[in-house]
Amino acid sequence: MKIICKPCRRRDLVPAFRMIRVALNNLRKKTGKEIVRYRIRKLYEIEHLYSTDKKTFWCAWAGKSIVGFAAALQRGKQWYLGFLFIHPKYQDKGIGRQLLERVWREKPGMVHSLATFAYNMQAVGIYGKFGMAPLCTLPMMEAKIDRLILMTPTGLTARERLTDADIDWINALESKIRGFNHPQEWKFWRKFDGVGIFIFERDGKRVGYSMVYKSGGIAPAGAISNEYLTKVVAETLRLAKPKKKSLRICCPTHNINLYRFLLESGFRLTEMDLFLSDRPYPDFQRYVPAQLAIF
Ligand SMILES: CC(C)(COP(=O)(O)OP(=O)(O)OC[C@H]1O[C@@H](n2cnc3c(N)ncnc32)[C@H](O)[C@@H]1OP(=O)(O)O)[C@@H](O)C(=O)NCCC(=O)NCCS
Repeated sequence: MKIICKPCRRRDLVPAFRMIRVALNNLRKKTGKEIVRYRIRKLYEIEHLYSTDKKTFWCAWAGKSIVGFAAALQRGKQWYLGFLFIHPKYQDKGIGRQLLERVWREKPGMVHSLATFAYNMQAVGIYGKFGMAPLCTLPMMEAKIDRLILMTPTGLTARERLTDADIDWINALESKIRGFNHPQEWKFWRKFDGVGIFIFERDGKRVGYSMVYKSGGIAPAGAISNEYLTKVVAETLRLAKPKKKSLRICCPTHNINLYRFLLESGFRLTEMDLFLSDRPYPDFQRYVPAQLAIF
């Protein structure tokens, strides 16, 4: 059947994400993992990304069905691939490459990157052809709330009511530690009731921040130094009240201090992801990425 690539319309998002669930579970089954069951109803964060970057959201169609989906974000000179999924029946036919070409953007100094599953060599391989290589492993780590081993208080104080000045501070810090700031997401997250955002201070001065999803994900987190980042995460573990009684975090293994701290706090490894890029940029000593579609 003829495959046609077209810009994604808002109403294509839900069917595209249903196709993603099929592709994801097919990959999980093939690699001996349990399939994941989740409902696709309200795509708040995806709708937000679509509103900022709709020109780099594309679908591949076979007749009336969406069989491929790609979405990329641009934040300054950061190009980031949030999603690329092809329906299992249509994989290996060049559709992934075609969609990637549609959403690819180039300008002087542009850095291209993404996070993907360490267990899908085809995905890692296709990105290599676009110049992006695995630069850091990102184990997904999880801890049951009742098994958490909390460290003694770090001396940081936390605030949850954020001011405009706090958000400006986060954006300024992120341009240093993340490489590129992304005020669009902070504007969205600040109003999004699915998350809580914390600012941490020492002696009245801001030293870090973190965000916790009600579903239990801690991401992103950042701090002015490596030592403070571990303290920020330690205090976040104390403050987080997830609905699902467990916490998750994706810890860049370049940050050995944080990685060891999380293991000692009761976190266990669940899966391995990879950060791929054509140039290194986040300072993983001071930054824990946002969810993998945004980083
Ligand atoms: C990964 C995925 C998006 C690729 O799309 P696709 O349409 O199947 O791939 P294509 O046919 O366009 O291209 C695959 C490319 O990878 C290359 N490739 C495959 N396996 C490889 C390997 N082990 N090492 C190096 N390159 C490899 C192929 O040679 C091909 O490149 P070429 O066209 O230059 O020869 C798709 O298979 C998919 O959705 N997989 C499951 C979900 C997933 O892992 N998504 C990525 C999430 S970020």
